[in-house]
Amino acid sequence: MTRAGGDVHYRVATAPDHDAVVTLLAELLVELGPPEAAVRVRPLLDVDLRAALAAPTVRVFLAEDAGTPVGLSRADVLSSDPIFRLRDDHRCGYVDQMYVRPTYRDRGVGQRLLELCEGWFRAQGIGHALLHAAPRALRFYARAGYLSNREMFKRL
Ligand SMILES: CC(C)(COP(=O)(O)OP(=O)(O)OC[C@H]1O[C@@H](n2cnc3c(N)ncnc32)[C@H](O)[C@@H]1OP(=O)(O)O)[C@@H](O)C(=O)NCCC(=O)NCCS
Repeated sequence: MTRAGGDVHYRVATAPDHDAVVTLLAELLVELGPPEAAVRVRPLLDVDLRAALAAPTVRVFLAEDAGTPVGLSRADVLSSDPIFRLRDDHRCGYVDQMYVRPTYRDRGVGQRLLELCEGWFRAQGIGHALLHAAPRALRFYARAGYLSNREMFKRL
């Protein structure tokens, strides 16, 4: 594989990709931690991904090298986010579950996976994308044009 990630191919994941997608997401959970969250969420992935891969409002993109999955991204169309509810364009895109296996990082795979989500949103006339960034990924998303807004968070 070249440094620029030229041998990596990208496609939309479908139902038969379920196990590969769950495997990648399990790796993401372990990496993001904390360990107790990974243990709690891991059993939920199976049902969640089965639903996502069948939903018209969700698209999961896979990056593969010679047929081996090396990364993924997930795009959800949200239509009830309160920020957008009273706008003409009341839907927004939500980017989630971005993950690239460590040996494939820093060569543009993540950027391409993000662009695939954005392109799918744009194709549907959606004009905004939202995401919640892991602290370590803030620079990656900022480089891709994402701005932090005034959203604040409190655990209840
Ligand atoms: C965040 C993540 C998806 C990014 O994936 P990636 O494939 O490394 O992303 P890219 O290669 O497009 O960009 C990563 C960096 O490599 C740089 N880069 C991209 N192409 C490059 C190339 N050809 N040569 C050298 N550097 C390159 C980018 O400038 C970027 O730098 P930055 O960190 O300063 O923004 C990946 O690091 C990951 O899976 N992290 C762990 C899980 C995680 O945090 N997920 C996000 C949850 S919100």
